[in-house]
Amino acid sequence: MDEIKYNPKTDYGTPQSQSTKQITLTVDDRQVTVPDGVTIMHAAAVAGVMVPKLCATDSLEPFGSCRLCLVEIEGRRGYPASCTTPVAEGLVVHTQTPKLADIRRGTMELYISDHPLDCLTCAANGDCELQDMAGAVGLREVRYGYDGENHLKAAKDESNPYFTFDPSKCIVCSRCVRACEETQGTFALTISGRGFDSKVSAGNKDFMDSECVSCGACVQACPTATLMEKSVIQAGTPEHSVTTTCAYCGVGCSFDAEMKGEEVVRMTPSKHGGANHGHSCVKGRFAWGYATHKDRITTPMIRKSINDPWQQVGWDEAISYAASELSRIQKQYGKDAIGGITSSRCTNEEVYVTQKLIRAVFGVNNVDTCARVCHSPTGYGLKQTLGESAGTQTFDSVMQSDVILIIGANPTDGHPVFASQMKRRLRAGAKLIIADPRAIDLVANSPHIRADYHLKLRPGTNVALVSALAHVIVTEGLVQEAFVKERCEWDSFVAWRDFVAKPENSPETLASEIGVKAEDIRAAARLYATGGNAAIYYGLGVTEHSQGSTTVMGIANLAMATANIGREGVGVNPLRGQNNVQGSCDMGSMPHEFPGYRHVADDATRELFESAWGRPLSSEPGLRIPNMLDQAAEGSFKGLYCVGEDIVQSDPNTQHVTHALKNMECVIVQDLFLNETAMYAHVFFPGASFLEKNGTFTNAERRISPVRRVMKPKNGYEDWEVTTKLSEALGYPMNYKHASDIMDEIARLTPTFHGVSFKKLDEMGSIQWPCNDEHPNGTPIMHIGEFVRGKGKFFITQYVPTTEKVNTKFPLILTTGRILSQYNVGAQTRRTQNTAWHPEDILEIHPHDAEDRGIKEGDWVGIASRAGETVLRAKITERVQVGVVYTTFHHPESGANVITTDNSDWATNCPEYKVTAVQVSRVNQLSDWQKHYKTFSEAQIAFAGRKVEASKVG
Ligand code: SF4
Ligand code: SF4
Ligand code: SF4
Ligand code: FES
Repeated sequence: MDEIKYNPKTDYGTPQSQSTKQITLTVDDRQVTVPDGVTIMHAAAVAGVMVPKLCATDSLEPFGSCRLCLVEIEGRRGYPASCTTPVAEGLVVHTQTPKLADIRRGTMELYISDHPLDCLTCAANGDCELQDMAGAVGLREVRYGYDGENHLKAAKDESNPYFTFDPSKCIVCSRCVRACEETQGTFALTISGRGFDSKVSAGNKDFMDSECVSCGACVQACPTATLMEKSVIQAGTPEHSVTTTCAYCGVGCSFDAEMKGEEVVRMTPSKHGGANHGHSCVKGRFAWGYATHKDRITTPMIRKSINDPWQQVGWDEAISYAASELSRIQKQYGKDAIGGITSSRCTNEEVYVTQKLIRAVFGVNNVDTCARVCHSPTGYGLKQTLGESAGTQTFDSVMQSDVILIIGANPTDGHPVFASQMKRRLRAGAKLIIADPRAIDLVANSPHIRADYHLKLRPGTNVALVSALAHVIVTEGLVQEAFVKERCEWDSFVAWRDFVAKPENSPETLASEIGVKAEDIRAAARLYATGGNAAIYYGLGVTEHSQGSTTVMGIANLAMATANIGREGVGVNPLRGQNNVQGSCDMGSMPHEFPGYRHVADDATRELFESAWGRPLSSEPGLRIPNMLDQAAEGSFKGLYCVGEDIVQSDPNTQHVTHALKNMECVIVQDLFLNETAMYAHVFFPGASFLEKNGTFTNAERRISPVRRVMKPKNGYEDWEVTTKLSEALGYPMNYKHASDIMDEIARLTPTFHGVSFKKLDEMGSIQWPCNDEHPNGTPIMHIGEFVRGKGKFFITQYVPTTEKVNTKFPLILTTGRILSQYNVGAQTRRTQNTAWHPEDILEIHPHDAEDRGIKEGDWVGIASRAGETVLRAKITERVQVGVVYTTFHHPESGANVITTDNSDWATNCPEYKVTAVQVSRVNQLSDWQKHYKTFSEAQIAFAGRKVEASKVG
């Protein structure tokens, strides 16, 4: 039996089935074979017969309310709904008979008699299923007239910035309600009332004030113009589309950019997207307006000193000025006086050419990336233990998990589309353990989901917790010894086992340090080890600590000891923050590694790249970001090429970063906007948005997905072209004609990418690396049968408390995180209507701590640490524990990183963002830093001819 080739543009009415049993039936004289478990409607669509429908769509479970899809089945009485009737062997189905036509026309008449007849001026004209069905059933008249009771005057809700709700057009099909429940898992909508009075309700509130998180699933599901994107109302229906990949988080959702000429009208999540299966969050679907925002800088600029005004120049002048400055600095101060930083917002191809420029042309390995400040411990820890610096699973694997352990991650805010999938599995019965100092949404605000254990640990005690969990597993005989014997280095296991078994690692000894009851730690450990397929998901709450790498290794130890690795439903899953964190690391953005995580000191690898690039390469690891900044502060590092990264806002200890930048003689910033780092730059290369370029992003599951140009770059060039122009000006032309040439070179030189090409990506949609001769279609699950390093290796995880201690001067611990509507430093989302949800960063504080300090909801509070001070507005909430305060870092004026310290992970220098000892007190004025920031940034923006927006603080 041939596999069914599903067309992503076809709506099959009801979902596919995973059954291997095949069923053959006849629909309107066409014989069709489909998997058992699908409906007659689905089988008919596979056979090319589209049964009229309104309440059914293939992303939702069948509902059976509209009665339009009735069919006749030989040998059965009545007219069953094809959307709720399962297929059976040998059925003979008729979808078009005179009787069915009569029933359908009658049904449609009822719908249309309570529907405005404004089709010609309706925004959905030509894209409306109600209109299509009226045509399909041959509706010619409406006998009931429009004079009776109806809903035609129901008021519109336009509160959401991105879509409208016009109940006068609603046919109460419930698709929106079901999309919100089944696809998104938010349960914001219900059908209230009965019979004629039934209507869609967002909890009797408007959408903005409701539980709605603006994911848009209901808008996509709505078959009428009731729920409608404002962009479509404004621009009209799109006329062509290009499939590309979201530029925000590490989920890597695939989208069809629906266009009118060069204008994006709508971003529709692609049904065949490997990571998102047709779903999205508010950022990917709606927050793309930044690409055409008035703040975009599209002309190159230069200046001799950061105190001078910017001068707009042509590309040639900007490139040649940058090249001459970099050459001058190297001649004057030595080769190592310059380096570069790439960003996880860059494509793989951009990162690759940037590190090539630095290694082959600058002649140094001083290249680093923003993964340094987020997931570098993941790269290190997983490489040491398992042999590969990457997550082990596909997102879909979670659907096979029985136990989900989340440590230091907040998926509903950070990785929302994956969170929706995870919530589906949790609603279906998987158990949930959460280790987090704060009550994240999965604990506090997720209908029909209950965390079996919320281990509300004190920030900074992850290693102690992981060791205590391991202690229970080892001492209660829960280790899967056969797996360990076969798959792991036995000696390393024995050493680890003996270490964690010591009384000092017992839950009872560590409970007070961790801040969690010993019995809860024991119960959680038992559940993880014995509850069936157990998967660990973790995030920056694990990595951004002084022992980030130790915790990552401890997590891998747990998975190996319990045999929860190497198959579906289990594994170690780092939830990568930004869209291309995985890719930027894969592409050799770290100072010690070539693409594919091969050490610069490895002679064979270096010779391979030397021969391909035709330049001698250094075998010495280069400078990491903190080393570059330290050396700049000391005066020996003088030139920086910073592509797509805003180190002033995103790196810790802002004062140190700005001091270092001020000491440099040539800072080149390549970005869409004049970001905070550009305030200290001498050259500004305008960047291209993801809509303006070709390339690839690699998500948290190692999935390489195509980024495709849908409009011309506003600055004239794709970003990789700018880098290669700089290279040429420095005497090293790279000679690529298209981004695909760069991927071809990556594939030639990187074993895990040997089988990757743009052509293959376009054919397959996406590919999970390794993709090579051994795995021509990629590798969804890693470490099956054998670890990449051969035998898995256990590491001792000695808990060393952070040196960042609370005392009477700084009695609270500040920890940081993200929020759904904003993204990272906010450069993109702050320039969209997403600010409607999070216009400023706020400080969450427990009621007891607030009361002790006389702080009330909404007060301005000063937050002082050993590094600096800032001012935020207070939110009093029990989601944080006593002694812990929490904020986000999306707005530059908040200065969250003014207060974070220089402490960092022992192995990778990843900053300890998650633990800063602070004091909080009521204030009535900005901090000194904020006053300085306001004056300085206003002056800088004015230099670039931009209008200054009034500060929200004060
Ligand atoms: S809003 Fe749309 S999807 Fe929801 S019930 Fe009305 S017509 Fe159906
Ligand atoms: S936008 Fe998403 S969260 Fe909001 S009501 Fe629709 S489906 Fe629910
Ligand atoms: S931000 Fe993340 S979850 Fe949201 S649409 Fe983009 S990739 Fe998907
Ligand atoms: S589509 Fe089957 S009842 Fe609505």
